[in-house]
Amino acid sequence: MSRLPVLETPRLLLRPFALSDARSVQALAGDAAIADTTLRIPHPYENGMAEEWIGTHERLFESGEQANFAITRKTNRELVGAIGLVIEGGADRAELGYWVGKPGWGQGYCSEAGRAVLAFGFGTLHLQKIHACFFPRNPASGRVLEKLGMIREGVLRRHVKKNGIYEDIVVCGILREEWFKEPGTTSRRGEADRKTPSTEPCDEGRVGNL
Ligand SMILES: CC(C)(COP(=O)(O)OP(=O)(O)OC[C@H]1O[C@@H](n2cnc3c(N)ncnc32)[C@H](O)[C@@H]1OP(=O)(O)O)[C@@H](O)C(=O)NCCC(=O)NCCS
Repeated sequence: MSRLPVLETPRLLLRPFALSDARSVQALAGDAAIADTTLRIPHPYENGMAEEWIGTHERLFESGEQANFAITRKTNRELVGAIGLVIEGGADRAELGYWVGKPGWGQGYCSEAGRAVLAFGFGTLHLQKIHACFFPRNPASGRVLEKLGMIREGVLRRHVKKNGIYEDIVVCGILREEWFKEPGTTSRRGEADRKTPSTEPCDEGRVGNL
């Protein structure tokens, strides 16, 4: 696949970022609360950083390294946040990363977007595992991953140095067969039966890094 598709969920369109999103990315991701619980979002979020980040997307998707989506509301097309996969092609595995701008918190957007990206990762990219990590002091992220069906695999103690402080991170993951298993049953659905988000061709193909 050479171009990132658009994924549709009941309330959201997940689409490639465009340079015209840069101002909104800077405003939303520039909130200190976003940098506080993520590993790769700079703070302060200076002018030009969003453009630079968005400018890497197309090449990184084409090379199979990353797939980044802008989370936008269907109703008014406003940017809500970002979600994406950093792909380890040799292992058929990817790391899920995301942020939602503070005005959008607590409305289920991240979980809704996450389900679509997992469906894309397993259904379209044919990954065998998707994993993610979060700080124990960020229970909202832990809950998102739990709602996505991820299993807590362990704690990496004092694994990250964040603002001069060593912090634990919790690692979670979901395997391909777990994703395709009917929730709450022991039977497995056929892969074709599993609901995948609708995709449509799109004129911009971009990827990135959360
Ligand atoms: C983590 C984040 C993406 C969640 O986005 P969101 O759109 O608000 O998430 P959702 O609404 O889909 O789900 C959040 C869940 O966490 C729960 N939650 C929120 N705060 C919580 C808390 N302090 N303790 C426990 N659960 C909490 C919510 O109730 C909800 O669960 P529910 O649907 O069972 O009620 C958002 O807070 C964010 O962007 N934070 C900053 C960046 C970040 O931390 N990114 C992730 C890095 S690992």
